[in-house]
Amino acid sequence: MSKTTVSLIKCDIGSLAGHHVVPKPLLDIGEKHLKEAQKGGIINSYYVFHAGDDLELLMVHKEGEDNPEIHKLAWDTFQEAAKKAVQLKLYGAGQDLLKTAFSGNVKGMGPGVAEMEIEERSSDPLLVFAGDKASGGAFNYPLFRIFADPFNTAGLIIDPNMVGGFKFEVLDIKENQKIVMKCPEEMYELIALIGSPERYTISRVWRAKDSLLCATTSTTRLSLIAGKYVGKDDPVCLVRAQHGLPAVGEVLAPFLHSYFVEGWMRGSHWGPLMPVGLKNSRCTVFDGPPRLVALGFQVSHGMIASDDDGKPLIGDLFDDPAFDLARREAVEHAAVLRRMGEFEPARLPAEAMEYTTLSKVLEKLKDRFVKV
Ligand code: 13P
Ligand code: 13P
Ligand code: MG
Ligand code: MG
Repeated sequence: MSKTTVSLIKCDIGSLAGHHVVPKPLLDIGEKHLKEAQKGGIINSYYVFHAGDDLELLMVHKEGEDNPEIHKLAWDTFQEAAKKAVQLKLYGAGQDLLKTAFSGNVKGMGPGVAEMEIEERSSDPLLVFAGDKASGGAFNYPLFRIFADPFNTAGLIIDPNMVGGFKFEVLDIKENQKIVMKCPEEMYELIALIGSPERYTISRVWRAKDSLLCATTSTTRLSLIAGKYVGKDDPVCLVRAQHGLPAVGEVLAPFLHSYFVEGWMRGSHWGPLMPVGLKNSRCTVFDGPPRLVALGFQVSHGMIASDDDGKPLIGDLFDDPAFDLARREAVEHAAVLRRMGEFEPARLPAEAMEYTTLSKVLEKLKDRFVKV
C-alpha cells in the first residue's frame, strides 16, 4: 500500500498588534498557495490556520518526509506572506525566516516542522497540536502522560495492543545527539531526561511491539540558528490515535489541567499553558498566557477526509467547556507568576537567558565589576 505523509510546517512571518495574531491577509496568502498546490497535484489536502502569531500549513500528500517540493511550497508561501507583512508594517515581519537561500529543506532555516509518513490504517484519526509562546520541550509532559502514564491512558492497562508500551526518541539539544528509550521499562530514566524540557525534547514516539509511528514534534531552536534571541520556537506536534493507540480522549486528557512551559513574554518566562479553540488562538496578557490549539481529523485515502465540496473536516478539539478548568487554572497561575516580576522561577534560569537581550545588560555592566 502506498504511504501518506502529513506535514505541518509553521512560521512566524509577522503579526498584528505586536506578537498577538496572524491577520487575515497572511492567512489568505497561505490559502492561495496551498490551493494552487492542490490543483497542481503537489498536495492532496490542506488546512491553513494559526497559533497566535504563527502561520500553520497543514498538508497531506504522497511525497514522504523532508520532501524538497513540499518544503519549497511552504518556504515560498512564507516568503510571500512576509512580503505582505512588510507592506502592512506588521510586527516582526519575516521574524522566523532566518536564512535567505532555500536549499531543499526548511529545517534549520527558521520554520518549524512536524512530519509523519504513515501507512494508513483502516481508520486513522490524527491530532495536530500547535502552540504559541512556548518551546520545543512543551510537549514532553503531555506526550509522557499520553504514551506512558497509565493514570492518564487507560488503554495502557486495558488494551492488549498497548501493554507492550511505547518507545520515545529524545533529542539532547545541547550535545546534538539522540537516544531511544522504552517505557514502561525505562520510565524513570526517561523522566530523568525529559523533566528538563529546555535540554531534552521528545521528537518521536513509536508503539513498541511493531514500531508503528504514533507521534512527531518540531524541535527547532531558533536561537541556536540565529545565535541570538529571535522569538521562541513555538512548537507543533502530530499524534495518531485509537485502535491500539491512545484514544483521542486519552490524548486530550493531559490538558484537563494547565501545566508550565518555557516561553511567554520575550521567550524568557515560565508560563501556564492554556488550551484554546481556534477563536481564542491569540496571545494577549504579558504576550500570553502560552496558548495551544488541538485539531482533529481523519487521514483518508491520502487526504484529509472532506465534505462533498472538498472542504476538509476538522475538529476544533479545545473549543469545549471541558477545558474551562485548565483555562481558569492558566489565568490563576499567570497571575501568581506575574506577581514575581523578574524573579526566578517566574523568569527562566540564567542559562536559558543567554539567548535573550539580558546578555546585553551583562555586557554593559562587565567593566564595572571589581574583584572581591
Ligand atoms: P479503540 O480501541 O477502538 O480505539 O477504542 C477505544 C475507545 O474508543 C475508547 O474511547
Ligand atoms: P513569538 O516567538 O511568538 O514571536 O513571541 C516573541 C516574543 O518575544 C513575545 O513576547
Ligand atoms: Mg512573533
Ligand atoms: Mg509565535
